[in-house]
Amino acid sequence: MIRGEQKLKTAYFCSRCGAAHPKWQGQCRECGAWNSLIEERVAARKKTNAASSSAEAVRMTDITDPLVRGYQSGIAEFDRVLGGQLLPGMTVLVAGDPGIGKSTLLLQVAEAYSRQGTPVLYVTGEESLPQIKSRARRLAVTGENIDVVNDTSLEAILAVAEKGRFGVVLVDSIQTVSCAQFASPPGTVAQVREAAGALIAMAKASGKSLFLVGHVTKDGIIAGPKVLEHMVDTVISFEGDSSHLYRVLRATKNRFGSVLEIGLFEMTSSGLAEVANPSSLFLGERAASGAVVAGICEGTRPLLVEVQALVTSSSYGTPQRVAGGIDGKKLSLLLAILEKRCGYPMAANDVFVSLAGGLKVFETALDLPVVTAIVSSLKNRPVDPKTVVIGEIGLSGEVRGVAAIDQRAAEAAKLGFTTVVLPQANLAQVVGTSIKLAGVKDLQSALDIVLG
Ligand code: TYD
Ligand code: MG
Repeated sequence: MIRGEQKLKTAYFCSRCGAAHPKWQGQCRECGAWNSLIEERVAARKKTNAASSSAEAVRMTDITDPLVRGYQSGIAEFDRVLGGQLLPGMTVLVAGDPGIGKSTLLLQVAEAYSRQGTPVLYVTGEESLPQIKSRARRLAVTGENIDVVNDTSLEAILAVAEKGRFGVVLVDSIQTVSCAQFASPPGTVAQVREAAGALIAMAKASGKSLFLVGHVTKDGIIAGPKVLEHMVDTVISFEGDSSHLYRVLRATKNRFGSVLEIGLFEMTSSGLAEVANPSSLFLGERAASGAVVAGICEGTRPLLVEVQALVTSSSYGTPQRVAGGIDGKKLSLLLAILEKRCGYPMAANDVFVSLAGGLKVFETALDLPVVTAIVSSLKNRPVDPKTVVIGEIGLSGEVRGVAAIDQRAAEAAKLGFTTVVLPQANLAQVVGTSIKLAGVKDLQSALDIVLG
């Protein structure tokens, strides 16, 4: 790492229009946007000519495949989200709201890697060493192979990381790290980008695996992990509702694996615990109308989730649509299909939809259960609590087949459900189950079967 002693030349650029300003000011001179200026390094233009450049192409067949051995933490829910294993030099951003449990997860992960014999460096800029120690005690983390450093200076952190023979380095959080060459405070875009860039370069050069914690904030001045997402190999986001104890770990970017897998944890008094039977978390009581159990799939894992809908006549000119845990635009689309294909007067009603347990799902197999829950509430007619509904809905109201139907049906049978309403196209794919199957071709026939 070569770093000059004197301050870098920087300027302030508008994050909206890109106009440069020599000094910080509240409003951009060019486009008039407020609070949009961020400090950036002004790169000195290098003189280059083609002859002196030394890049050379290598034939693909001549590149040696290193067949690198990765690390496994042994926490199955965590390893799955990472794509099976952590590779040397891999950089991972752990993003999430403050208080969701990122530090807790990282300390538990640090312990898990260190137990596998990997020396771990835990860098904290947020908590003092005694605070870390007391959390470690609570989590039963002994930390025999874990070195902890409490510092926020990028240069100091790089020096410590380069000195030791660490396999895994965790930095909690990147928003606290600052580089002496920038005048702007820690957490600003310029600081976060510089610090992350230097740490990532260190990880790649030395083969250390790097975890960066990034807080998600709605405040525009603090650099959100958006800036970092392009820089790292993998982004895992930690989601959950503060009113619920479970947490979902989801890969939103992964250069080395699938982005479909999720990990499920429960926050307990002694840290995060893996969830043994996840479907049970997302099933409510289902006594009233408007509740339907959906058979969805997150990555390779089938899950049963209760969809709840409430439909009431609208007292305003514009009917309200509130979607919790599902895409709002998708809800509008489903309501349009329901009105056009089945003739229900949705424009006159407010519609509220949410998923039990506060889960977020973006899967097409949720279409039919959502519409069924809406009609169940509209007609005030409950759905049989032992029925699971699965299916994608097309624009003409047809019910389309979904992937992994066998696993979904098996999960329903395992949890004691008796009937699965599924796309006709999938019917022949379910084998060897005692559960009753009802294949449906279109939305209207599905509603007729489920709601009579
Ligand atoms: P923390 O990991 O500090 O969150 P973050 O780093 O994302 O800001 O966890 C915060 C919450 O987790 C806090 O409200 C307390 C709770 N918690 C538990 O319930 N059990 C535990 O064992 C620990 C360590 C924390
Ligand atoms: Mg924290």
